[in-house]
Amino acid sequence: MKIAIMGLGYVGITAAACLASQGHEVIGIDPNETKVNAILDGRSPITEPGIEELISRARKNNSITASTALVEKVAESDLVIVCVGTPSAVDGSHNMTHIAEVSRQLAELVKAHPTNKITVAYRSTIRPGTIEELIQPIFEGILREDAKRVDLVYNPEFLRESSAVNDFFAPPKIVIGTRTGEPSRVLDELHEGIDAPVFYVKYRESELTKFVDNTFHAVKTVFANEIGRLCVKLGISASEIHRIFISDTKLNVSPYYLRPGGAFGGSCLPKDVRALQHVSRSTGGYTHMIDSLIASNEAHKAFLFDHVTRGLEHGARVLMLGIAFKDNSDDLRESPNIDMARMLITAGYRLSIFDPNVEPQNLMGQNLGVLSNSPFVRDLLVDRSITESTVWDLVIDARGTASTYRLNAKTVIDINRLA
Ligand SMILES: NC(=O)c1ccc[n+]([C@@H]2O[C@H](COP(=O)([O-])OP(=O)(O)OC[C@H]3O[C@@H](n4cnc5c(N)ncnc54)[C@H](O)[C@@H]3O)[C@@H](O)[C@H]2O)c1
Repeated sequence: MKIAIMGLGYVGITAAACLASQGHEVIGIDPNETKVNAILDGRSPITEPGIEELISRARKNNSITASTALVEKVAESDLVIVCVGTPSAVDGSHNMTHIAEVSRQLAELVKAHPTNKITVAYRSTIRPGTIEELIQPIFEGILREDAKRVDLVYNPEFLRESSAVNDFFAPPKIVIGTRTGEPSRVLDELHEGIDAPVFYVKYRESELTKFVDNTFHAVKTVFANEIGRLCVKLGISASEIHRIFISDTKLNVSPYYLRPGGAFGGSCLPKDVRALQHVSRSTGGYTHMIDSLIASNEAHKAFLFDHVTRGLEHGARVLMLGIAFKDNSDDLRESPNIDMARMLITAGYRLSIFDPNVEPQNLMGQNLGVLSNSPFVRDLLVDRSITESTVWDLVIDARGTASTYRLNAKTVIDINRLA
């Protein structure tokens, strides 16, 4: 393929060098003369293992060139990959100046060269909505009807500096955002031979992916360091704790507890998080992230209440399917479902609760205590026959088992799986 790369920073240079090594005909564009000259001399403008060799080889066999100006060759490309910088603005947002400018330049170029269809894939990290609200309007404003000749795609980059070449050829995944979520032939061709799971989604989902990944990496680092600090303060071996923690690939380093849905609750998580906060306070650990967990969980309970009751009329008949903190358990301690039930009745909904594992007469110990603190639960419990013979305005499925009952419901919402 003929490929133009806009922006020869870490991402652009790596793409240019690796794509040229795969036999593509590559041109790199960057206003920075030093970077362009380095490539033309067969050198790498960045320090990155493997890049210099790839560029030097690509220059010798003429598969790479570079320019400071948007030359005609770019308009003749099958694919343009945009890798310009999106640095932090003063308010913390991404500064979109380069994205807007490069989009304007490309639109003007396409206008001046009425060629065939061209695919423009953005690889810079951009906030959700950027393609639809900033980039597309720029192309449409300049090209009018002809904007249809430009196929806009978002294809986030997952490489890490210092292992960029390896990551380019073996990425953890390939995410491709298109207007409808349908595949793009050009992007499929681009990724031919690369063995990684491919996700075709709409623009906004693809734009958010990279933020989510980077933020999660930050969360992991901060969590590891907060635990490490606590260990040091307590005279406990941080490396031993780390070794034991990561050995658990069932619950710790795994997809478990990562699905967006229900708040955490039950007899252990809230209690032990609070107690670790106490340990941290008493040892001067300053564990800001751990300290924010309970507050964030409470905010999530409020969010879920708003989420399920949006548009629901006052006095509507609501069934909660599940009141214990998890399925196949009668444990009511710190169940987020009790908080949901409390919010529903406070807001004036006609609530009933069905949980096949909760029989008030069978409860004992702390569960009885929970019932005396939240006596409304006992009054609202109904049996399966009422559950199946009543018409519900809303069923809040806290178990993911709604489909196993013969429910007559206008709306069913699974609160453990945000759509
Ligand atoms: N560096 C990484 O490891 C990494 C990884 C994944 C994603 N990203 C994202 O990729 C994007 C690029 O990152 P980077 O580290 O390569 O940035 P960078 O700052 O190193 O390079 C950006 C380049 O774009 C050039 N440029 C600016 N305006 C231009 C224009 N109109 N036409 C052509 N070139 C132009 C600049 O001169 C610069 O050389 C950013 O959005 C970044 O967040 C970076």
